[in-house]
Amino acid sequence: MASPGRSMSIGQYFWEAVEAAKAVNLCSARLATRKPALLRSYVSFCLQRYDQLMGNGLQAKSPIPALTPSDLDTLTVPLRFQSGGGTDPRELLNLAAVTRLLYPKRVFEIGTYNGGTTAVFILNSSPDCEVFTLDLPPDPGGLPDYLPTDIGLVQDRSPEGFLKRAGLAGRYRQIYCDSMIFDPEPFRNTIDLGFIDGAHTETFVRNDTMKMAIMLSPRGYVFWHDYGGRGSFRPLSKYLETLPVRIYRVPATTLAWTTAGEIKKIDRRMKPRLRPIVNGMGKGNERRSA
Ligand SMILES: C[S@@+](CC[C@H](N)C(=O)[O-])C[C@H]1O[C@@H](n2cnc3c(N)ncnc32)[C@H](O)[C@@H]1O
Repeated sequence: MASPGRSMSIGQYFWEAVEAAKAVNLCSARLATRKPALLRSYVSFCLQRYDQLMGNGLQAKSPIPALTPSDLDTLTVPLRFQSGGGTDPRELLNLAAVTRLLYPKRVFEIGTYNGGTTAVFILNSSPDCEVFTLDLPPDPGGLPDYLPTDIGLVQDRSPEGFLKRAGLAGRYRQIYCDSMIFDPEPFRNTIDLGFIDGAHTETFVRNDTMKMAIMLSPRGYVFWHDYGGRGSFRPLSKYLETLPVRIYRVPATTLAWTTAGEIKKIDRRMKPRLRPIVNGMGKGNERRSA
């Protein structure tokens, strides 16, 4: 294979493409016969990487340089990286870096699961930062409009266990409420860092995005997890790609992000559509201190 950076003829490109296709197909075929349960995540990983290399979808751009990191900045992440919530080490490090550099006064996360990302927000912000994390009530009842993978996460979650064991109980506020009926108004314009990682259908992601747009402070940043997926996650990606605001993907991750200045544009444009969701349901936020 030609090494990257060396100029290649069209013939070489062609044969490299054929070799790559053979390798992917061969690996897929092997996985399909030996470990079929892993095939989906392998193909999805390859396709996401392909999109990133081809420059498909959202433009790749890291938010970190604009937050002016110094050589001496350090990050803190839990040793048990894999919380099972799907946020990988590179994504956790990006979220940790943004938290460290942004000095948020308030962080709001939609989708606690086992508290892995919540811990990253707590550990990289100052002690006076308020961290809020929202998840469904312990017994959410039927989940008719959910993707099967999301139902699995709802059933497996243990929102407060890890955070208590890690000694972080006093550092955050757990909110138990369905994001569809959650009232963002008490948080209007106060959230410096928002993270959207709840249910993954377009309906939920749209709802969570609109509410985050209301809550973000003027200097705020919002991140979405699971951008770039195919199959059942494709509508999520398409929704972000078609929003009439500038959104970027964090290079080599499934994180997408934008600033309050951008996302507030949809708050202003979509207000008439949002009102019926918010009105009348705002009083139901169940809040509980950890
Ligand atoms: C992918 S997990 C979050 C993973 C977590 N951010 C991490 O990386 O450690 C999604 C979580 O969203 C929660 N969730 C699903 N639907 C929700 C809804 N409508 N409102 C609030 N939380 C929801 C699930 O219970 C689950 O715990």
